[in-house]
Amino acid sequence: MDFKGKVALITGGGNGIGRAAALGFANLGAKVLVVDRDAAGGEGTAGAIRQQGGEARFVAADVTRSAEVQNYVKDALSAYGRIDCFFNNAGIEGSVKPTVDYDEAVFDQVIAVNLKGVFLGLKHVLPVMVRQKSGAVVNTASVAGLVATVGMSAYVASKHGVIGLTKTAGAEMARLGIRVNAVCPGPIETRMIHDLARQISPGDPAAAEKRYQAVIPSGRFGTAEEVAQVVLFLCSDLAGNVNGAHWVVDGARTATGASMHPPAN
Ligand SMILES: NC(=O)c1ccc[n+]([C@@H]2O[C@H](COP(=O)([O-])OP(=O)(O)OC[C@H]3O[C@@H](n4cnc5c(N)ncnc54)[C@H](O)[C@@H]3O)[C@@H](O)[C@H]2O)c1
Repeated sequence: MDFKGKVALITGGGNGIGRAAALGFANLGAKVLVVDRDAAGGEGTAGAIRQQGGEARFVAADVTRSAEVQNYVKDALSAYGRIDCFFNNAGIEGSVKPTVDYDEAVFDQVIAVNLKGVFLGLKHVLPVMVRQKSGAVVNTASVAGLVATVGMSAYVASKHGVIGLTKTAGAEMARLGIRVNAVCPGPIETRMIHDLARQISPGDPAAAEKRYQAVIPSGRFGTAEEVAQVVLFLCSDLAGNVNGAHWVVDGARTATGASMHPPAN
């Protein structure tokens, strides 16, 4: 894989999976635009890339706000002139509560970030790629886009929706030299998985994590870098005929139905 001369735009690039992907793109030669609402995290990622001799800049944006999405696209174009790879990745977990107890405001917030944020990214980045007649997008879905997770109705609905957006945009772009795919991480060692464990087992989150890892066939959470490698592949020329697809990176978690929060018997 080689991204020399290419420009990668990454939302949620300030932490976790987005940061690992930003560093991965930069290591393979891309200029990277890091987008995040967390300025310290975003500046941290861009700074780490520059420290390694790469080219990166940070733009603060809330992906739920159309004007801020348009602004990060404008910034990428004025700084680097094009967008070759778009990792549409920012997301939040929301709360862990049965559907009947799920707070309506939290539901709206999760859908706004995970689903509308991904839609707005597609809406404003794809026209750039259409003008270029090239480009590759990876949306971050989740194994929660494929199967249920008890207590996470908003998250599961949003990630199923991301897979729907991916299939639709992939098909719409297919004749134009542009590909749109999704990555479906299983449980990955980032802030998000630790927060979920705290919500499920406030008294002993470490025990909840241990139990969950024990039922995942690989016996462990994945790493952000392992997800990033698949994202890089999907954005690369090696994936030339992969479009409208979703790739699972989960150590066989979905293959067996393992879950951190199984339904009560
Ligand atoms: N960690 C996991 O187990 C896991 C599993 C499957 C999918 N995912 C997905 O991977 C993606 C990255 O999550 P992560 O695990 O790296 O978590 P993370 O919390 O470390 O990173 C998420 C990033 O998104 C940013 N963000 C959140 N809301 C935003 C908004 N409105 N505007 C701009 N930026 C925003 C955060 O500031 C943060 O930098 C998410 O879409 C998440 O749903 C994570």
